[in-house]
Amino acid sequence: MGCFPSKTLDYPRISSSWTRPPASQALPALSAAIAASAKLAASNRADHLGKAENSIGLPKSPLNIGEVKMTELDYVQWDITSVCNLNCKHCREKATTSNARDNLDLQQCKSLIDQIVAWKTRTLSVAGGEPLLSPLIWDVLAYGAGKFERLVISSNGTTITSETAKRLKSYVTCAQISIDGACAETHDNMRGKGNFAHAMRGIQLLQDAGVQPAVRMTVHGGNMHEVTAFVDLAHDLGLPDAYLRRVIPSGNAKQLSPLSAQDLKRTLGEAIKHGQEIGMHVASADYFCQITFNQKAREKAEKTQAANGKVIGGCAIGIKSFYVMQNGIIAYCPYLPIFCGDLRQDTLEKIWQTSQMLKVARSIRYNLKGKCNTCQYKFACGGCRAYAHATTGDILAEDSGCWI
Ligand SMILES: C[S@@+](CC[C@H](N)C(=O)[O-])C[C@H]1O[C@@H](n2cnc3c(N)ncnc32)[C@H](O)[C@@H]1O
Ligand code: SF4
Ligand code: SF4
Repeated sequence: MGCFPSKTLDYPRISSSWTRPPASQALPALSAAIAASAKLAASNRADHLGKAENSIGLPKSPLNIGEVKMTELDYVQWDITSVCNLNCKHCREKATTSNARDNLDLQQCKSLIDQIVAWKTRTLSVAGGEPLLSPLIWDVLAYGAGKFERLVISSNGTTITSETAKRLKSYVTCAQISIDGACAETHDNMRGKGNFAHAMRGIQLLQDAGVQPAVRMTVHGGNMHEVTAFVDLAHDLGLPDAYLRRVIPSGNAKQLSPLSAQDLKRTLGEAIKHGQEIGMHVASADYFCQITFNQKAREKAEKTQAANGKVIGGCAIGIKSFYVMQNGIIAYCPYLPIFCGDLRQDTLEKIWQTSQMLKVARSIRYNLKGKCNTCQYKFACGGCRAYAHATTGDILAEDSGCWI
């Protein structure tokens, strides 16, 4: 997914030929997209997931719509279950123990994999909830193994045993484990007592089994002072990368104190600088962060002005990426519960071609507001629409976490 930390600080491969659609193609209104999304949200299937917030606070004005032909996808994130053994203070999932009856069955999971394989998807990331608690996880991983450049599982690491680590070795290219601080006190404050030790043991077992782990820290006001120590921790574990992601104030995270743009800049800057000093690659998914701290990325972004409105970086939703919920609903992204389609009713191809909301996503750079609208980097960044929506109720609003 656009927000998933890329392996390098280079931009993800977003179509360089995707430009502003001609005026004749402009139109279908965002309100129509929202209405379609709200209809899906109102269905019984979607209700129990607590995601029926679609019609709240979204703008009604018409947007330009561009068409994107699908030939290759970069990234698909699939939350295979909403069930989890933890209830983290920052988690975007409100109901972590919610009923799993409505999850896709194995046949539907295989059909999803077949469809995204047919589109030459490079990376499939399986998350949740806690994906290792899904009864289908092993069948799904076995089915997906070898079909992607990267098959990643994103886990809290607490339930990993030597046996599960060995099984993962046969299927995944990487296991991303969440570590939300550099010590037990900080991590456990968010994730519950004992879970730092459990996650660290999980990482050790993965390494023993020959699985490549990655660590991701979700950064907020309560742990920002530990980012450099987190980089050291990743280094001490022998990992090549440390991933940082600012908290998006959705779900449980609405209760947390937000990180100011300046705090975020200082925090991420310190971590990246420290990484350079000790030879660690520190990645943050936010494109404005890459533009600030990575000269190559900045130079590339600056060239887009000359390229006159071509999208070359930033959130790739609807362009090279999409997100699937556990019940087969395609939503805008894990942090932005606007529904785009239902895989139980339509094929992926049909949803990709006809979803009004995905069309809105494709043309969103031309319709941004505030400083994101006037920013010279809007075609390389465009901010995070989930952050804008979570903080203002408007997906088009400026990303107030950006310091540029
Ligand atoms: C939803 S979890 C699912 C996988 C697994 N249960 C875990 O905790 O890693 C995936 C990642 O999203 C992060 N996350 C959850 N809520 C978030 C939020 N509101 N903002 C930013 N990241 C969040 C988690 O910390 C974790 O790294
Ligand atoms: S809207 Fe934000 S969180 Fe969602 S995929 Fe795009 S960049 Fe990532
Ligand atoms: S962040 Fe992961 S482990 Fe924590 S409650 Fe959410 S899904 Fe569960």
